[in-house]
Amino acid sequence: MAFNTIIYETNNGIGYITINRPKALNALSEEALTELSEALDMAAKDDDAKVVIITGAGGRAFVAGADISAMQHMTAVEAYDYARLGQTTYNKIQDMPKIVIAAIDGFALGGGCELALACDIRVASAKSQIGIPEVTLGVFPGFAGTQRLPRLVGTGIAKEMLATARKVHADEAKEIGLVNYVVDENPLAKAEELAAQICKNSMSAIALGKKAMNEGMEMELKKGIEHEASLFAVAFTTEDQREGMTAFLEKRPANFK
Ligand code: CAA
Repeated sequence: MAFNTIIYETNNGIGYITINRPKALNALSEEALTELSEALDMAAKDDDAKVVIITGAGGRAFVAGADISAMQHMTAVEAYDYARLGQTTYNKIQDMPKIVIAAIDGFALGGGCELALACDIRVASAKSQIGIPEVTLGVFPGFAGTQRLPRLVGTGIAKEMLATARKVHADEAKEIGLVNYVVDENPLAKAEELAAQICKNSMSAIALGKKAMNEGMEMELKKGIEHEASLFAVAFTTEDQREGMTAFLEKRPANFK
């Protein structure tokens, strides 16, 4: 499918989604969000995409936020719909039974930070700056940042980032657990290295483990633990479980389909 603002392609088992509005630092207009949503549907179904990497075009930004010019004259009702479009789109990343990696090279602000937060793993280049500066615009994060950021870094840091609007530099982002890795340059190469490692393992087991973590995080601890047992049992209905354990006992590498 041809998109105006998104590029979707696959190579070597990886699905690449590139936000492609470099002149606006990849700000997410309604069109870009809609196309991102469609690209995520494609990636979820695509057997050639075992792992998905999301990145931004142009070398200056991952995504500099929701499109401020699109929001300027929105009514409250339109703003609600826009927030729901962003939120339901990002929820597709959370719900996708595949690992999604954000490769951040530059600004990841507002809706861009929230996009990265929805991903499973974040890799950033040293020049990257991550933040939620919406309060400088008289609004606050509306693409689930108020929910995902405190869950990732804790409420103390999240509230400070919200209220000060400051951009956190890559090294600090690593320190506070906001990103997994910082590389000098080329975060895409690091994301591809992680994707290659992931591709060697059981996709069905990764999907079940991701589901157990996501759903468990929304439950009381002992319920989450019980839920884990149910999903652990599901793993024993898969071909991958038979292959993985047989391969170990036969002292050979597993050959997952
Ligand atoms: N929306 C629309 N356009 C944007 C944009 C955004 N979020 N961010 C950058 N742009 C545009 C600029 O308007 C500019 O366009 P023109 O060339 O046509 O003037 C172009 O991208 C380049 O940006 P700058 O000239 O500002 O570049 P800079 O290097 O001086 O600054 C920046 C870079 C610090 C990232 C700055 O662009 C900036 O602060 N951007 C806005 C960041 C922001 O506030 N994001 C939150 C948006 S609100 C949101 O996301 C709500 C939500 O949670 C749902």
